[in-house]
Amino acid sequence: MLFIWGPAVTLLPLTPVVDADLAPADTTHAARALVPRVVSAVARRGALLRRAATRMPLVSQVSDRRYQRRLAEHASQLPLPSVDQLEVLVAMNDAGVAVRPANLPAEVIDAADGLVELLRRKNVDEPCVKATPRELAVDPTLFTWGLSDHLLDLAECHIGLPVRYLGMEVKRELVQSAAGRNHEVVRRWHLDHEDRRIFKVIVYLSDVDAGAGPFGFIHQTHSAAIRGSRGLDLRGVPDDKMDAVVPRNQWTQVTGPRMTSVLVDTGQVFHRVFPPTETERYSVTFAYSSRSPYYAYSRLMLPRRAIEQLRERLSPRQWDALCVGRTRRSRAS
Ligand SMILES: [Fe+2]
Repeated sequence: MLFIWGPAVTLLPLTPVVDADLAPADTTHAARALVPRVVSAVARRGALLRRAATRMPLVSQVSDRRYQRRLAEHASQLPLPSVDQLEVLVAMNDAGVAVRPANLPAEVIDAADGLVELLRRKNVDEPCVKATPRELAVDPTLFTWGLSDHLLDLAECHIGLPVRYLGMEVKRELVQSAAGRNHEVVRRWHLDHEDRRIFKVIVYLSDVDAGAGPFGFIHQTHSAAIRGSRGLDLRGVPDDKMDAVVPRNQWTQVTGPRMTSVLVDTGQVFHRVFPPTETERYSVTFAYSSRSPYYAYSRLMLPRRAIEQLRERLSPRQWDALCVGRTRRSRAS
């Protein structure tokens, strides 16, 4: 499949964010949402604790040695990146983020647009709505594109180990407050915790300006300096607390036309979705980890039956990247 990198898209300096008014609580909605929210919160907490455990002195020494040994053993088997891929990897290593226009194949765009229309038709009282695994499976073209060799190569070079395709998420960010909702953490500064190194590709499926919920990040240099700082809640840092350690003029928003792609290690750089204030944002995110992540979200993956139906179309490498049969939650090793 064809995937062409074009000239870099401009990264805009931050403009002030105005939060929408807090919507009154809907008790019916709250009750319905309670169970998945609790399960999700417990799962995320578990992943945070597993990651934190690897940073405890004695545990981290053993874990780090094992991790470094695995990196060294796999180094000679890494794919050789093209010049364009190398530039992306260097940008990710330097800034933590690379931004490139993506020319997706026509059939992949059609599949993405079908999901955009499906989400657009949903009448919801939520700050964010996502396609379900069943909906993603109706036309698996977009999901399968995430297994293209180009992306697996980039992911493997960045992670340094054989990769696991964690799946994808297609979502619509609405002009609606997330205050008090589970989604609030996504709109605050945070780190992801699926693995030590994570590779994600976010493709905008609508034009994104400052009022349309742009992706935001803190440069790798600043993120590295404050990672692990006491007092910073890694599950969501409010603006005033982040401003105290990294001034607002150092925050970056990624704006760009539809089909702008953001390649990022969301476990290394603080990032967020800035709340849409004027326009909804549609996007798809493809996610990758090593084959022993701290956590893998089942909602990113197609139903098992749909995965089995893909098997004949996939190469052994692509099939292996799905890690079929492994539990969605697994320990780091
Ligand atoms: Fe995130």
